[in-house]
Amino acid sequence: MTIDDKIDSLLKKLEELNNEGGQWNISRETGQFLYQLILEKKPQVMMEIGASNGYSTIWQAMAARHVGAKFYTFEFVPDKVRDLVHNLQIAKLIQYVNIIPDDANKRLKHWEEKIDYVFLDGRKNEYLAQLKLLEPHLNEGALIVADNVISHKHVLEDYLYYIANDKKYKSELKDLGTGLELSYYSG
Ligand SMILES: C[S@@+](CC[C@H](N)C(=O)[O-])C[C@H]1O[C@@H](n2cnc3c(N)ncnc32)[C@H](O)[C@@H]1O
Repeated sequence: MTIDDKIDSLLKKLEELNNEGGQWNISRETGQFLYQLILEKKPQVMMEIGASNGYSTIWQAMAARHVGAKFYTFEFVPDKVRDLVHNLQIAKLIQYVNIIPDDANKRLKHWEEKIDYVFLDGRKNEYLAQLKLLEPHLNEGALIVADNVISHKHVLEDYLYYIANDKKYKSELKDLGTGLELSYYSG
């Protein structure tokens, strides 16, 4: 895969910042995987919960641009929203992302649009509640990608139990970065 030089140098800068701590960004390997996954699945409406400074958002926005998807991302910390906007502007990807600078838990209660792809990367103890709020809006075959399922497997026990035991989901674990769980929804 080829990445624009300007975006690549921004991603490298954000990786250095992440190594210094405090950002909790996905790994480059995970970003590349999400990018390829979106190109393969071609979702029409995508959502991310937990953008932080936009490292993961950039990978997914590049893919959203490629497949022509509408992409929403939630981030509720004002300083992070500022960094997110700044980084997406540098990457020239801002026009491909609908930033919702608010609490996803609040906004999902009034959500109306159908969704094909979700990346869960906010608070780990809220994944299950968020999935349940999203469920009525998932299209058949929608893909839910949950991050940190290896690093935070104890906090995510309720989420992992739910998707493993509810027949509406078929899931697989990817041992990438902090662990990704891919779950396909069949209404
Ligand atoms: C692990 S970081 C996200 C890292 C980012 N996805 C990446 O890999 O580059 C989690 C982020 O989610 C945000 N967050 C957590 N719960 C949220 C919620 N309910 N609504 C909006 N943002 C939330 C936090 O402020 C934090 O910036």
